[in-house]
Amino acid sequence: MYSVSHYFRISFFLLAGMSILLLAGCRTEPYPKDFEQLSEDERIVIRFSHVVGEDTPKGLAARKFAQLVKERSNGYVEVQVFPNGFLYKDGEEMEALLNGDVQMIAPATSKVTSLIPEWSVMDLPFAFNSYEEVHQYINGPAGKKLISMFDSHGLQMLGLWDNGFKQMTNRNFPIHTPEDLRQLRMRIMPSEIISKQFLVSGAIPKEIDFNIVFHHLENGDVDGQENTLSNIASKNLHLLQNYLTISNHGYLGYVLLVNKEFWEDLPESVRDLIADALLEVSEWEWKNAHKLNAEKLDELERCKCIDIYHLTEEDRKLWEQSFQPVYEYYEDRFGTEYIKALPKNKKEAD
Ligand code: LMR
Repeated sequence: MYSVSHYFRISFFLLAGMSILLLAGCRTEPYPKDFEQLSEDERIVIRFSHVVGEDTPKGLAARKFAQLVKERSNGYVEVQVFPNGFLYKDGEEMEALLNGDVQMIAPATSKVTSLIPEWSVMDLPFAFNSYEEVHQYINGPAGKKLISMFDSHGLQMLGLWDNGFKQMTNRNFPIHTPEDLRQLRMRIMPSEIISKQFLVSGAIPKEIDFNIVFHHLENGDVDGQENTLSNIASKNLHLLQNYLTISNHGYLGYVLLVNKEFWEDLPESVRDLIADALLEVSEWEWKNAHKLNAEKLDELERCKCIDIYHLTEEDRKLWEQSFQPVYEYYEDRFGTEYIKALPKNKKEAD
């Protein structure tokens, strides 16, 4: 585990205090303290591992966060970002966080469901109609309860970053109706609810790590997959698929998680600095994620490299009906609390 030596904690604040006094009193420039000259043991180092490319909503936000923290702490706190699963892959990063081998990760909400299955409410098909609805839910009582569940696992959730809404792709024919999924082998993230979503349609879901989806599509181990446009395009998955259905059937976003012990061990001023930076970056990330996904749709439409079908309102109703058993399955397992709190159900109840 990373613990910061007492000496450097004190000197950090002494230096900060002296700088303020110097600036206020003498109005002479203090010698800038360059914390980057310190060794890793003397600085606070946060290793932040994730599995997507750098030119994605999460990749760009992670880098922006690292930059902001470095600037604001004069290099005393360093966030080292490891993208593309270089350090830890899907299925490895959570364990690495719990062991203290990395201090921060941002897995898709679907990927925390093996630890806290209630989180799979976020995977329910057509649960949310907009990003606003997702944020409203996460900030409401059901979301707060879900967030608090990380505590007992030695984790602290510091925020939620959006990616976007998932779309479906397939190699041999277009997907317009739920029947079109029959017998299709579809790559999925590890989530019982996503698995169920495909099983009720007669498809064959296969859990595959994000970093090897391309190879599995290339080898023909799976016929299709679901993901956001930014994830599809950043991994060139569309080059192996002939049909894209703009279905917006599921939300894909990230929980920003830190190791709780590491977090609580940090000086309060450092925790505040990180939390403030995260808030600022998150607001930027939400807008950027929406913009990136819209840009990718534009690019895919212009490239004429994949046939694109947009679900109509009528199609969507049919899909929603066909997924009703997935909601029943969730309710059987976790009761009605989380489903009742979904914005679409609250609207109906009002
Ligand atoms: C996936 O596995 O498809 C996504 O969770 C990847 C990511 O982190 O966006």
